[in-house]
Amino acid sequence: MGKIAVIGTGYVGLVSAVGFASLGHRVVGMDKDREKVEKLKRGELPFFEEGLEDYLRSALESGKLEFTDDVSYAVEGSRYIFVAVNTPMDEDGSADLTQLLEAGRNIARNLKNFSIIIIRSTAPIGSLEALERVFEVEGRRKGIDYELAYNPEFLREGTGIYDFLNPSRIVVGADRKEIAEEIMSLYEKINAPKIITSIKDAQLIKYASNAFLAMRVSFINEIAGICEAMGADVFTVAEGIGLDPRIGRTYLQPGPGYSGPCLPKDLMALIRMAEENHYSAEFLEAIHKRNELQKRRILWRVKEVLGGVLIGKTVSVLGLTFKPNTDDVRNSISIPIITRLLKLGARVKAYDPMGGDNARKIFENVEIFQDPYSALDGSDVVLILTAWKDFRDIDWKKVKDSVKNPVIIDSVGVLRGLNMEGWKVWMVGRGYL
Ligand SMILES: NC(=O)c1ccc[n+]([C@@H]2O[C@H](COP(=O)([O-])OP(=O)(O)OC[C@H]3O[C@@H](n4cnc5c(N)ncnc54)[C@H](O)[C@@H]3O)[C@@H](O)[C@H]2O)c1
Repeated sequence: MGKIAVIGTGYVGLVSAVGFASLGHRVVGMDKDREKVEKLKRGELPFFEEGLEDYLRSALESGKLEFTDDVSYAVEGSRYIFVAVNTPMDEDGSADLTQLLEAGRNIARNLKNFSIIIIRSTAPIGSLEALERVFEVEGRRKGIDYELAYNPEFLREGTGIYDFLNPSRIVVGADRKEIAEEIMSLYEKINAPKIITSIKDAQLIKYASNAFLAMRVSFINEIAGICEAMGADVFTVAEGIGLDPRIGRTYLQPGPGYSGPCLPKDLMALIRMAEENHYSAEFLEAIHKRNELQKRRILWRVKEVLGGVLIGKTVSVLGLTFKPNTDDVRNSISIPIITRLLKLGARVKAYDPMGGDNARKIFENVEIFQDPYSALDGSDVVLILTAWKDFRDIDWKKVKDSVKNPVIIDSVGVLRGLNMEGWKVWMVGRGYL
């Protein structure tokens, strides 16, 4: 089997590189970030991802995996070139293709043999045509010098390597069936449903999947609002509806809204993609609007506790990452919420079990502590934004003596079932307990 190059060794690229090497392929991971590459060569992860470091080290020891910051070295002799650079949200909500097109240009300039270029980044319809154009400008002929295909990644951060080796499905989109089959054969050791489609269908499978997950979150937050208004308990309701096999339990956790590096940007990109093709995706817009409303609802709660004026008040924020068990704060809900609190004049003290270091790079005026007790000291209101189980282990009885006002806005319901004697706790989808 031919060598694999993976361009971009972020969350997705690194998991793919390590995953393919542990399936027995020869892999070279390439990234333009030299510091990241040096770390990876030493067997160190540039971010936290459960279990990945062990796989990384054994892949390096087996000699199947290497890293470089030299694109020509990665491309040379690689029959398969996976591209896993980022496609962040552009100002107008569409996907920003700068990294993708730059990676494509670098590959095109360094191609010496026929390669199959497989886009693993979440890339909108039209982006592979743009890449083809880049290759054409560099004098490369499709079908002779290279082929292009799309192989979306569905991993969940926090369980990335497990998801790579045990995927719910593998989707490959290509213009030619034999190319798709060849790509699929790279996964022959993996037992999962395997679907070969057109490139467009594969792209829409990825976008529609993320839009669906976002819809479930907005749906349960809508039900949470109704529960609050009517004195019902959304957690019981969610459990009751999730037991229906037609519905299922995942992504039915009420909270401050979906956030993070994927769902918001992918939903918006899908809306923009539809719009550009003269379809107005009103229902998807409603999912987004409901998510924005949820952020405001949480802020209103905080303001209400503080009597409407935040100047001089201390808000203790627990949870900065976009979900538990990751150190990723990219596009986390904590960012707009804390930014707003600061603008309204609050002093923000914060703690996160893993995301503190990354959050320090984003926030200038937030005091981020290494332990929850320092963050909670002197608090006027506690705001929980991420469902870290660790917050259940806080000695809330002890903390009560160090706060100014024993009120908690638990926007994720992580304190459910705990004896919170002496505290006033507001929980999403439940109201005050
Ligand atoms: N993070 C997730 O959970 C997840 C899940 C599924 C799909 N995706 C999609 O996968 C893609 C990558 O996401 P990510 O979270 O891994 O991003 P990331 O920002 O963590 O990683 C991108 C990497 O590419 C590198 N890079 C950028 N331009 C480059 C170039 N020209 N040459 C070489 N390296 C370059 C960057 O230095 C970085 O290390 C995105 O399209 C994202 O939507 C992400």
